[in-house]
Amino acid sequence: MNRVKKITCIGAGYVGGPTMSVIAQKNPHVEVTVVDMNQTRIAAWNNDDLSQLPIYEPGLDAVVQEARGRNLFFSTDVDKAIQEADMIFISVNTPTKTYGKGKGQAADLKFIELCARQIAAVASTDKIVVEKSTLPVRTAEALKSILDNTGNGVNFHILSNPEFLAEGTAVADLHNPDRVLIGGENAAAIEALVQVYEAWVPRERIITTNLWSSELSKLVANAFLAQRVSSINSISELCEVTGANVDDVSRAIGQDSRIGSKFLKASVGFGGSCFQKDILNLVYIARSYNLYEVANYWEQVILLNDHQKTRFAEKIIKTMYNTVNGKDIAFLGWAFKKDTNDTRESAAIHVADHLLDEEAHVIVYDPKVTAEQVYRDLDYLGTRSPEDNRRLVNVVNDPYEALDNAHAVAVLTEWDEFKTYDWAKVKAGMKRPSFVFDGRKLLDRQQLEALGFDYYAIGE
Ligand code: UDX
Ligand code: ADP
Repeated sequence: MNRVKKITCIGAGYVGGPTMSVIAQKNPHVEVTVVDMNQTRIAAWNNDDLSQLPIYEPGLDAVVQEARGRNLFFSTDVDKAIQEADMIFISVNTPTKTYGKGKGQAADLKFIELCARQIAAVASTDKIVVEKSTLPVRTAEALKSILDNTGNGVNFHILSNPEFLAEGTAVADLHNPDRVLIGGENAAAIEALVQVYEAWVPRERIITTNLWSSELSKLVANAFLAQRVSSINSISELCEVTGANVDDVSRAIGQDSRIGSKFLKASVGFGGSCFQKDILNLVYIARSYNLYEVANYWEQVILLNDHQKTRFAEKIIKTMYNTVNGKDIAFLGWAFKKDTNDTRESAAIHVADHLLDEEAHVIVYDPKVTAEQVYRDLDYLGTRSPEDNRRLVNVVNDPYEALDNAHAVAVLTEWDEFKTYDWAKVKAGMKRPSFVFDGRKLLDRQQLEALGFDYYAIGE
């Protein structure tokens, strides 16, 4: 197979946008076009003001600046981009189903199927189709069937190339990946994609497997990472009642090179678009093969995570004399982790929901999340009316405005800037007693206690 000259990516989101930007940056002779049906999103990717890119990722602006207009293009003309490409990445969203069979568990593949049908309808030359979205095992089979049955007689080779980048460090992860995984059946198609990555990734870090192993590995990698977080979070609850400190436990076990130190930070619960969805997927697949013990085992990772979020909210209520009705609770952070504006499945949403049920007044400050997004997240839950969400929740652009006069502070995201605040000034402006509930173990207990705060942290 010849070297790939033109790549198209369908879906200009958190995965497609950064990944294609780096592929274009490192392959100046390959023309890369990212298409999306969302016009606003494409306009934002084309914005001259690089601070207005639709997603926030450290270092992404520089990559886009280097490649955009040279060999990186963003467009809404999906058909044209399909027509011209040798290789098409599918990077559309695959949310958990909200209806029908597998509701709340299985991945909704309607966007993938629409893409496949569109590719089949438009393509008049052979294409390599690359699954980039996280998909249940054996989606490639469905993809191939749609392409072959509805296509114009051209050849489609399907590859699975799961994305392992983490948000907030996407550019660094793409520049220096631990591994790149490519699954497929056709050796020439695999080689064509290997060549794209070889432009900057050492060959020994590019793993090739069959399609199913590649698809499953993505789910399993996320399940293992999430499992570590739930494991340490389960221990955080034990620490709180026994007097051990979960950070000490993490450090002590993490130094064992067999265990390793990463993903052992206790928190208010993991969020993000992948962990929960991928585990639910794994659980769904296991159940569909009647592997109930396997399914129950992995489901427990999610149940523990739900418990951790609920437990944090209940700790706040209990500590504040069993009522938060009408009390001002300042939320520091809404994103599911620092250095991203992504809020999908963020623990903050569920903690807020719980407190709002008790008629608390929540004031949110997040350095990157907009007020519209906060309200959209709460409205999406459907727990109460949009009017009630706006009555009970304020979103502010200045952290001191959130903290002034508050009864309590809850740290939901580990943004570095929270550590640098003038906590003496905060204390002076807050109600007494002044509670801090640190869901990220971010702040300095000694400093805060010296200032007179009542400080509570997960796992202490
Ligand atoms: C994850 C995977 O890491 C990545 O490989 C995959 O491609 C997509 O899913 P992401 O969701 O961006 O990436 O973030 P990640 O850094 O994995 O964090 C997920 C959640 O776990 C966050 O809410 C984070 O705050 C939480 N977390 C992580 C902890 O609570 N403790 C930890 O020690 C690590
Ligand atoms: P991810 O985190 O997987 O990148 P996002 O939701 O951020 O998910 O991005 C997926 C993008 O895919 C969205 O911008 C959406 O508009 C786009 N998309 C979904 N289906 C199609 C389609 N059939 N054609 C073009 N774009 C699509």
